[in-house]
Amino acid sequence: MKLTIALLAGDGIGPEVIAQAVKVCDAIALKYKHEINWTPALTGAAAIDAVGDPYPESTHEICLKADAVLFGAVGHPRYDNDPSAKVRPEQGLLKMRQKLGLFANVRPTFTFPSLIDKSPLKRERIEGTDLIFLRELTGGIYFGDKGRTDGGETAFDTCTYTRAEVIRLAKKGFELAMTRSKKLCCVDKANVLETSRLWRETVQNMEKDYPQVMVSYEFVDAVAMRLVQWPNTYDVLITENLFGDILTDEASVIAGSMGLMPSASVGEKTSLYEPIHGSYPQAAGKDIANPLATVLSAAMMFEDAFNLKAEAEAIRMVVNKSLEQGIVTEDLAGKNKAYKTSEVGDWLVANL
Ligand code: IPM
Ligand code: MG
Repeated sequence: MKLTIALLAGDGIGPEVIAQAVKVCDAIALKYKHEINWTPALTGAAAIDAVGDPYPESTHEICLKADAVLFGAVGHPRYDNDPSAKVRPEQGLLKMRQKLGLFANVRPTFTFPSLIDKSPLKRERIEGTDLIFLRELTGGIYFGDKGRTDGGETAFDTCTYTRAEVIRLAKKGFELAMTRSKKLCCVDKANVLETSRLWRETVQNMEKDYPQVMVSYEFVDAVAMRLVQWPNTYDVLITENLFGDILTDEASVIAGSMGLMPSASVGEKTSLYEPIHGSYPQAAGKDIANPLATVLSAAMMFEDAFNLKAEAEAIRMVVNKSLEQGIVTEDLAGKNKAYKTSEVGDWLVANL
């Protein structure tokens, strides 16, 4: 197969982890006789520095033309403590999600048998966890009206959802549930928020179209608690943008390291694959960041965007092997030898 992949490395550790995923994808392409045409493009702080825009039109064009986008991370400490900055790297990410119509963010959470004791949660709590969050990604408070009134003394962010936005996300949730254990949890705050009541009402109306799916409705605060107490009782969870942002960071603790968690963002145009960790600026340039979340995101890309399941499985298998054999970066090494980011990448390539 001929594959064109837009490569948006971004900021911080982005370029380092992306470089390992590229090595692994190239090795897979060689082994399975595919031809990958990588098309690099600017995003985040790197793009602000170069052209003054965190998601320039030239980058958007490259993404539109590609079969998939592989994304590193965006963010720079220079902006974090400057609330008055007019352009911010994260705006690039939001603009990209909106312009590519990436309304569904798929974030799987699973445990690796060899790492189960690395999680701060007890083994008996997390063993067997295999859940997927479907986070709505282009609506809600992230994209509503925001601003200041009262001479700057009052600030507001508005959360808005349309029924159509809920339906298209929930439809993906029901369909995903049908391919798994047919359990769907709708996470909301319907006891307080009108948008949540619209979510709940809409999902309730859709239940009749998926009679085999068992739907539960839970409040977000309760889910935050149950997620770390009984994560293995969940399967597919659907939720709005901000709740999903918070809960998926929480869920990453189950796996033992954020450095392991991949994600996909899908919707109307080209799909995008990215690790859920951010740009981790403290580690940038040190060759110490865990590349596995990005490598596993590439596996999701082969499976979902290109329908190449054997290739995806080969990547997952070699990642498992590296974990079992302790070829890991410092976040997972504990008292054992910590490998460099690039050494982990080289090992994966050599063992594919
Ligand atoms: C994420 C990130 C982003 C978000 C930030 C960087 C804007 O936290 O992808 O979860 O809040 O969506
Ligand atoms: Mg987040």
